[in-house]
Amino acid sequence: MCGIVGIVGHSPAAPLIVDALKRLEYRGYDSAGVATIEHGHLARRRAEGKLVNLEKRLRAEPLDGTIGIGHTRWATHGVPNETNAHPHFSDDVAIVHNGIIENFAELRAELEKDGYAFTSQTDTEVVAHLVSRELRRGVPPVEAAFRALKRLRGAFALAIMFRSDEDLIIGARNGPPLAVGHGEGEMFLGSDATALAPFTTSITYMEDGDWAVVRRNLVQIFDMNGEPVERRQQQAIGTSFLVDKGNHRHFMEKEIHEQPEVISHTLAHYLDFTSNTVKPLDLPFDFAGLDRLYISACGTAYLAGLIGKYWFERHARLPVDIDVASEFRYREIPIVQKSAALFISQSGETADTLASLRYCRKEGAPIGAIVNVRQSTIARESDVTLPTLAGPEIGVASTKAFTCQLSVLAALALRAGVARGKISVEEEKVLIHQLSETPRLANQVLKLDRQIEKVARELSHYKHVLYLGRDTNFPLAMEGALKLKEISYIHAEGYAAGELKHGPIALIDEGMPVIVIAPHDRIFEKTVSNMQEVAARGGKIILITDKAGAAHATVKTLETIVLPDVPELLAPILYALPIQLLAYHTAVFMGTDVDQPRNLAKSVTVE
Ligand code: AGP
Repeated sequence: MCGIVGIVGHSPAAPLIVDALKRLEYRGYDSAGVATIEHGHLARRRAEGKLVNLEKRLRAEPLDGTIGIGHTRWATHGVPNETNAHPHFSDDVAIVHNGIIENFAELRAELEKDGYAFTSQTDTEVVAHLVSRELRRGVPPVEAAFRALKRLRGAFALAIMFRSDEDLIIGARNGPPLAVGHGEGEMFLGSDATALAPFTTSITYMEDGDWAVVRRNLVQIFDMNGEPVERRQQQAIGTSFLVDKGNHRHFMEKEIHEQPEVISHTLAHYLDFTSNTVKPLDLPFDFAGLDRLYISACGTAYLAGLIGKYWFERHARLPVDIDVASEFRYREIPIVQKSAALFISQSGETADTLASLRYCRKEGAPIGAIVNVRQSTIARESDVTLPTLAGPEIGVASTKAFTCQLSVLAALALRAGVARGKISVEEEKVLIHQLSETPRLANQVLKLDRQIEKVARELSHYKHVLYLGRDTNFPLAMEGALKLKEISYIHAEGYAAGELKHGPIALIDEGMPVIVIAPHDRIFEKTVSNMQEVAARGGKIILITDKAGAAHATVKTLETIVLPDVPELLAPILYALPIQLLAYHTAVFMGTDVDQPRNLAKSVTVE
């Protein structure tokens, strides 16, 4: 998604804005731009592609001015080129925008009738002209912005600058996040605390419907009725360091290898490894009294939730209703009385997940959120936040957040099992001791990196790949497919192995490698017959299993990746690592932009 930065400061704004935008690169973008008020005039530089292109432009034609706004654009309306890059101008107004103005077509028609000529294909430009039209009517800047905001429908975060007032930026938030950074005699606006970290860690998070008047020595926040509102000024947590790749080629590689450490941090947050019990959790519901648990999320977070469903139902006998948030939010699900809702999101800003949360809130369900960004919107709108301690995840493809989400879900499922009398104290001790071994086992699994890189070289020659798994390895098969497709652009599908004969087997030939995720568990033999069906049709099998699985596979495989023996409860967490590495190395061989794959954003803050 787009990134927004604004500065009302006392030093040249343009270079500071570009530095801050760099901290938002992980969100994914395809063009960028900066505008300042330079000697009483609006001036801007924009460039297609990465920020290095904008920096080149600024070196050739520097921008003066101590007030400015900047933007990294992820195209929603209009192709990613310089003309459509933000900031957009209209007379004496400059604007940057994240989100979608849903009624932009009617606004554009109205403004064109009023004589406004559009220079871009973007929805954003209508906002600039709306504000400018109010100014032409003699309305002062703050009121002009307010009137324009009230005409907008949709999800947006905006920063608006006025040639006539070098001590004013208007910020507005309705959906995508926006925060105010408090400096000494200077103020900042940013899409998140990470962008503002170089300037300040004193942050005020704007809420939906807020708009802010930001001046060097004053910030006033109002609601959409124009009434002043109080928003807490707080210290941002752990965003002051600039995340870097260490000695890795990509953030994704670094984050894959951070998993033993961050999984241990996350597990330790929920489990007491001395007593081998789940630590007391201050939940807004009692698992013992629940008839149903609703789970909703998107993408990889949804697949973590799907694995969680197996665990809640198996270990706590708690029925789970789970759906991807883009469906959940519109399904009008009858939320039963004795239920709770759990939302899983790395960024805590995913629009569909937030909308599903709000649906459950409206229906009266207590809300829990498993998030990696504690001060995110989803966290702030939940009754309880269940943090993953993965640290900032920069690579667009979610890896360490996924295994940390699984770690939290495993702890919750055990908590629920004990509370509902389905797990004895002894069983709890055994299962938690097993979980305590996850980081060590993860370290062992990561030692397979070289072998997996070799397999990836082979995989990179194919156009289509099928992943198969049973039980908790079925969501993992889908996660493996998602990882591969989103960073290597190779088409991949994840299927329940038992579904093979119901259609996908028609795909099998020597041109379709099949990746089978199958530890030697109680249903391993079932998967062996699936592999035999694949082999009988010339399919190439890459088996991810353990020693016993390798010994009993009885089919010829292209490659067998043998993991250490792991307890069943840990399998989804540990078998996630080889599928992440497989996708990563395949993408490296494909030469794609591993950390910022095309068309993707790290946080999908619009529908
Ligand atoms: C996963 O690799 C993708 N980047 C994507 O599916 C992601 O998991 C999804 O957009 C949800 O994001 P969230 O966890 O921040 O809500």
